[in-house]
Amino acid sequence: MPEEINITQGLNREEIYQEIIPQIGALIVDESDVIANLANVAAVLKEAFGFLWIGFYIIKEDELVLGPFQGPLACTRIRKGRGVCGKVWLDKKAIIVPDVDQFPGHIACSSQSRSEIVLPVFYKDEVFAVLDIDSKLLNDFSAIDELYLNKIIQLIENVIA
Ligand code: SME
Repeated sequence: MPEEINITQGLNREEIYQEIIPQIGALIVDESDVIANLANVAAVLKEAFGFLWIGFYIIKEDELVLGPFQGPLACTRIRKGRGVCGKVWLDKKAIIVPDVDQFPGHIACSSQSRSEIVLPVFYKDEVFAVLDIDSKLLNDFSAIDELYLNKIIQLIENVIA
């Protein structure tokens, strides 16, 4: 497995995704342990983009439970339908929140978070986990992030399938 990720200086966000996605594929393809792979994906995204918080919540029984992450400490459990993460679990589709203060029921794990994107990770057609990314900037996420983060999630899904 590669021991470091190469990220060229001066690239825009889309170009960075394009550069890291094949490297993430190489990083996780030979590792069958899901937690190890989620941990390295969170680390690569943190190194590549420096977002405030990047991590996974994993479904355990009737709750989302904090999984591998990078950033400040976070809430450990989220109920189905609660907050952005719980709504993504319920609706089985990604949510982009341009301004967390405008999202009814948003769970503020960090007062520094201003915008957020959350995407579902599937295993056998059911939501298995969610990927949550928080930014200190308002309106920091777009359809470009959703597109490329879904490609990264697809790599994870292929390994756990
Ligand atoms: N803001 C999330 C909670 C998780 S933290 O952002 C790490 C939510 O509303 O579900």
